[in-house]
Amino acid sequence: MITRLAISGYRSLRDVTLALGRVNIVTGANGSGKSSLYRALRLLSDVAQGRVVASLAAEGGLSSTLWAGPEKFSREMKSGQHPVQGTRRSGPVSLKLGFSAEDYGYAIDLGLPPPSSSRFALDPVIKVEAVWTGELLGRANVIAERHGAHSRLREGKSGAWRDCTEHLSHFDSMMTHRADPLDGWELLLLRERMRRWRFYDHLRTDRDAPARRPQIGTFTPILAADGSDIGAALQTIIEMGDRAALDAAVADAFDGATLGVNDRFEVEMKQHGLLRELNVAELSEGTLRYILLIAALLSPRPPELMILNEPEASLHPDLLGPLARLVTKAAEHCQIVIVSHSSELVAALDRHPESLLVRLEKELGETILPDRSASPWKWPTR
Ligand SMILES: Nc1ncnc2c1ncn2[C@@H]1O[C@H](COP(=O)(O)OP(=O)(O)OP(=O)(O)O)[C@@H](O)[C@H]1O
Ligand SMILES: [Mg+2]
Repeated sequence: MITRLAISGYRSLRDVTLALGRVNIVTGANGSGKSSLYRALRLLSDVAQGRVVASLAAEGGLSSTLWAGPEKFSREMKSGQHPVQGTRRSGPVSLKLGFSAEDYGYAIDLGLPPPSSSRFALDPVIKVEAVWTGELLGRANVIAERHGAHSRLREGKSGAWRDCTEHLSHFDSMMTHRADPLDGWELLLLRERMRRWRFYDHLRTDRDAPARRPQIGTFTPILAADGSDIGAALQTIIEMGDRAALDAAVADAFDGATLGVNDRFEVEMKQHGLLRELNVAELSEGTLRYILLIAALLSPRPPELMILNEPEASLHPDLLGPLARLVTKAAEHCQIVIVSHSSELVAALDRHPESLLVRLEKELGETILPDRSASPWKWPTR
């Protein structure tokens, strides 16, 4: 389970460290930083996929994603006595992301490249990375570190450092290029775990949504991010997953309805009062959205961490109670982060015994967590 998340210099998240629990509900007003938090987790998983630099570039590059305010706020700026203005930088430009679990932690620090005439001169570069054991980085528990092109790993038995002779490119993470089953097996382990984090963001349900298109079905223990394989994913739950939980979730949400998958792998729903099943093309947007959430949350191969962005979109308030129960069921097998605007969903989930409410607010353009004290965190230094 991930117990801490730290973000620095990313959009409105100037400096945020937070503890995570089993079920985490991120909420706050428009523009408070919820999507940025979601994106920051995504960027961390992109590191493990070897595409963090490309993802940052797709978001507009460091010039857009870096915190646009001053490096620090003085007390006078906070009280309004002085206008908010930039002061001379004391530290380098940097965007830092990190997390730790009970066993390992990881952090990355990205910055600007030295001036050059390259056509890629605006690409962010990876300056520092570190992997450590335990929750908090310290001098003694680092097991792998990277500074610029140099990386080194700690030998398993002796604990002595071994420098890697091969240089790392500034756009390659040590998580993808030093993770080796023999030398860097801990990196490999952590990387694979990060790769398995699962994100669902605005599953489409409009008339042309991928979920409504015909498909070829094969065993599908993990619903695709666009929901295109919904029929196969449901059939997989029926055949090798928790079928009782599936039936219970459908009964909880749609009184008297049953869900099935026909031999063309189309989802069908039998509703009370109708003479025939309705197929996926005929289902309403909210109904289809809910079915997609069922398939995502009851996956027979649950990830370590599942992150859902505004799952309540287009759902009637009556479905929010069942959705909270569905999430609670899923939380038996994985850790969950839910970004939500819905006060009803937030309130329902907050009753979960292991839930943690992350309420975001904005102060001088910066995201703050008014109800939480920052959890201890240490960044690797450049
Ligand atoms: N580089 C930046 N520096 C500082 N703030 C930024 C930067 N880029 C974007 N922002 C601001 O960060 C805030 C958080 O945006 P975000 O999209 O995370 O909000 P949100 O909580 O998801 O809002 P909504 O509920 O409207 O989706 C916005 O006000 C946005 O304008
Ligand atoms: Mg948002």
